[in-house]
Amino acid sequence: MAFVVTENCINCKHTTCVEVCPVDAFREGPNFLVIDPDECIDCNLCPVECPANAIFEEDEVPEDQRHFIKLNAELAQSWPAIAVRIDAYPDYEKWDGVENKLALLER
Ligand code: SF4
Ligand code: F3S
Repeated sequence: MAFVVTENCINCKHTTCVEVCPVDAFREGPNFLVIDPDECIDCNLCPVECPANAIFEEDEVPEDQRHFIKLNAELAQSWPAIAVRIDAYPDYEKWDGVENKLALLER
C-alpha cells in the first residue's frame, strides 16, 4: 500500500508535500509529482500538506482517479527524486480544480 498523487497536481505542483516525507518518496516530472510506492511507508504526513488535495491513500483514491495508482508506480521508475520545495507551477491557481488534466501530463 502507498499514497498516490492524483490529477489535481498536474500543472499545480506546489511541492509542499515533498518536505514532510521522511523517506523521500516523491519523484518529479515536468508538471506533476508522483510517489514511489516502493518507498512510501504510509506515514500519512503528506496529504494535508497539499493545497490542491491531490494525495490519497491507495484505498481511498476516488473511482475516477484509480488509473493514477499505476501511473505513479510507472513514472516513479524514471523520474528523479525531489525532497526540497521549489516554486509552484506557473499559473497554478488557474489549474486548481480543472478536470481532465491528464492529457496535459508531460513525461
Ligand atoms: Fe512520504 Fe508519508 Fe506521503 Fe508516503 S505517506 S509519500 S512516506 S509523506
Ligand atoms: Fe502536487 Fe500537491 Fe505535492 S499539488 S506537488 S501533490 S503539494
